[in-house]
Amino acid sequence: MSEAVYDKKGAALSEGYALRRRPDPRMASLIAGALGDARSVLNVGAGTGSYEPTDRLVQAVEPSEGMIAQRPADAAPCLRGSAEALPLEDGAYDAAMAILTMHHWSDWRAGLKEMRRVARRIVLLTFDAEGSDFWLTRDYFPQILADDRKIMPRLSELKSELGDLHVTPVPVPHDCVDGFLGAYWRRPQTYLDPDARKSMSPFARIDTEAGLKRLADDLDSGAWRTRNVDLLTREELDIGYRLLWWDR
Ligand SMILES: C[S@@+](CC[C@H](N)C(=O)[O-])C[C@H]1O[C@@H](n2cnc3c(N)ncnc32)[C@H](O)[C@@H]1O
Repeated sequence: MSEAVYDKKGAALSEGYALRRRPDPRMASLIAGALGDARSVLNVGAGTGSYEPTDRLVQAVEPSEGMIAQRPADAAPCLRGSAEALPLEDGAYDAAMAILTMHHWSDWRAGLKEMRRVARRIVLLTFDAEGSDFWLTRDYFPQILADDRKIMPRLSELKSELGDLHVTPVPVPHDCVDGFLGAYWRRPQTYLDPDARKSMSPFARIDTEAGLKRLADDLDSGAWRTRNVDLLTREELDIGYRLLWWDR
């Protein structure tokens, strides 16, 4: 998958993206912690600018015109480019971050090599599809999980690529304000909303009709509630998101 998915006519995933993908402050604080004392930060696959620090010198890189056009006027400067060929000099940044983007790259190993070339620290927010047991993909959209298991780099692969890697779970708050796929684990009704699904690229890859009908039926009949009652009192849930950082 590539930036084309975000610009493709019809899918129009980038349309309205900035409105739905707003940084969640709790996740932002974990990312800020992982950036450590970095003063200059490169944001790769930056999209509309979620999680870009405002108290450091930031440069963004993003291939999709639709995304770049939605970056707020006061966002960091953004170059059009891809992770696999960063248009930047060696060692130019203290840290390079890549948030929920690596699975879109045509060659994630090449992208990581480029990040290591331009920065001394790498911070990645990614999804461990191997270890995930999320009701949405397990019970309603198994194709998303199967696809994710093919396209998401495995933690073991990332470890063997990067060597010494710090990995920390990123639990999703029950009232997460960032509209990515796992955000609504305690608000299942939201997945029935086509607008909410627009910022979730996995839905653009599959036929959603049967899964949506099953979910709507289970919400109506109470079957979803019965099966997931233990989630309703949870404040946060680990569904597989992982924050990784690596130092040269
Ligand atoms: C799920 S969005 C995440 C955007 C942003 N990091 C965020 O968290 O809101 C994935 C982004 O990766 C970008 N992307 C796709 N292929 C890429 C590549 N080869 N190199 C860098 N970014 C890429 C897409 O255009 C899109 O903006």
